Amino acid sequence: MQNDIPRHGLRPATVGVHGGYDDDPSTGATAVPIFQTASYAYGSTRDLADVFRGRAPGHVYSRISNPTTYALERRLAQMEGGVGAIATASGMGAITAVMTALLRAGDEIVSVRGIFGGTVSLFRNVLSRFNIRATLTAPDAASVSAAVTDATKVIFAETIANPVMDVPDLPALSEVARSHNIPLVVDATVTTPALARVKDFGADVIVHSTTKFINGHGTAIGGAIVDTGNYRWAEGRFEDLASLARKAGQMALLARLRNVVYRDLGACPAPQNSFLMLQGLETLSARMPIHCKNALRLAEFLASLPGVEWVNYPGLPTSPHKPVVDRLYGGIGGAILTFGLAGEADPARCMDSFVLARRMTNLGDAKTLVLHPASTIFAEYDRSERLNLGVTDDMIRVSLGIEDFEDIREDFEQAITQSTEN
Ligand SMILES: Cc1ncc(COP(=O)(O)O)c(C=O)c1O
Repeated sequence: MQNDIPRHGLRPATVGVHGGYDDDPSTGATAVPIFQTASYAYGSTRDLADVFRGRAPGHVYSRISNPTTYALERRLAQMEGGVGAIATASGMGAITAVMTALLRAGDEIVSVRGIFGGTVSLFRNVLSRFNIRATLTAPDAASVSAAVTDATKVIFAETIANPVMDVPDLPALSEVARSHNIPLVVDATVTTPALARVKDFGADVIVHSTTKFINGHGTAIGGAIVDTGNYRWAEGRFEDLASLARKAGQMALLARLRNVVYRDLGACPAPQNSFLMLQGLETLSARMPIHCKNALRLAEFLASLPGVEWVNYPGLPTSPHKPVVDRLYGGIGGAILTFGLAGEADPARCMDSFVLARRMTNLGDAKTLVLHPASTIFAEYDRSERLNLGVTDDMIRVSLGIEDFEDIREDFEQAITQSTEN
């Protein structure tokens, strides 16, 4: 076992490899062991009660915490520069847990529009049943600010909105949130800490679908919640968290999640899946630049094709979002783009013509994936509602993998040629 690895001041790429775990003391194993156990035995009733009641450290039941998952939580929190994290069974599990911890009947969410359809569905079909209302707005600070009411308790945004590709100016949204003393909750699935630490842009709580780039290989579903420490729970508008903060300080939200909301909702990850996410974090910073470079090159290529009517990629110089991308993400527009074919060309014909790119409802895989959002994730909405949500019938979404770009280019060229010729 090696004890001399520095634990502080490391950069995110290094933390992704070394963070959150010390070599196993009994064997020296450097890979995080998979603690495939539901529960944990103690020598005495008192010892078990002490851990159960938080008077001593330890794990009592894997729905509440698990050593493999705990290593993932620590590693991700360190990468994001947060005070702590909780890993969940899915990205939706993370968003549900955060909203359930923060909101009660009568409260409102102001969310930027054009975000993941599952999140819109959570707002519209589930939270609305508990009298929690969500207003979707344009992503600029003025629109978000205009939508905030006295009942608003959360502002929600995605770093790069999937699938409309809007890139909100997070520091400006954070100022709006600050002025109302409410937290800014940011879904950073599409950018990950490899592109930016959104804590530095004023995000208060970060949620991830770790299913995507963090896992990186499409092998498990998972999510995570990170408290960045930016929002002062002790002085916030959440009475229960303010009173808990007197004991738990900045850990108030995570304590309430761990001991009540997350525990009671039951959306904990399987230890095996936490292991896969830990492995994904080790190579995330190496993979992201390849995903993103392939996206930029495909966007440029598609923009040059007469058979393509439009391309939406925030990293293109022609995108209205490029100035924010330059300021926040070093000019890198992420690894997802959307496009539409010219004329009356059938998007399904194009989709069916891909041989390398996979027709799948996922993103952030090592493989390039294509999806027709209107007939899948957004199929539950009628056409006018889909258009409201920014999803046109001709939209094809691409999540770029890490293959050789020339192979991706050839696949797109042949699929588009086949679908646009008579
Ligand atoms: C931006 C974003 N957030 C959240 C989710 C939900 O994550 P999961 O599928 O892991 O529940 C997704 C899924 O596609 C997503 O794209």
